[in-house]
Amino acid sequence: MSRHESFSVERTRELVSDFAGLEGPLLPILHALQEAFGFVPEAAVPVIAQELNLTRAEVHGVVTFYHDFRHAPAGRHVVKLCRAEACQSMGCDDLIAHAERRLGVAMGETSADGAVTLEPIYCLGLCATAPSAMVDGRLVGRLDAAAIDAIATEVER
Ligand code: FES
Repeated sequence: MSRHESFSVERTRELVSDFAGLEGPLLPILHALQEAFGFVPEAAVPVIAQELNLTRAEVHGVVTFYHDFRHAPAGRHVVKLCRAEACQSMGCDDLIAHAERRLGVAMGETSADGAVTLEPIYCLGLCATAPSAMVDGRLVGRLDAAAIDAIATEVER
């Protein structure tokens, strides 16, 4: 069973009003929505825009600019592979291709059986042990093909 709530306009309004008094409330609101619903539903955009007196385009622009915000519910496991500079220089692109093949899912997507979401991330602060990943919130350094295979076995269980 999902640990997230189902989307509702009322709950969105409630979360918006929790942060509306802050200076620069949009990012905290989007994080709160993702925490509550597991993603930022498209249907939340007009509600936020109305409550904050912004255009839908402004809200949509922020939601799509930040890679942290999901546009659809995530799978049961979330594998994030770092694509920032240090990891690039240590060959993360080849590992990403390997992970896509091994997990049967393209970067940015969720497998058809809902088991795993594969997402890019931009620096985990683990550059010294690049290439790096985060698996369900756990940091993993010194990634290689064997480590990707082990992660795949773990998330497919
Ligand atoms: S660049 Fe990948 S962990 Fe810093």
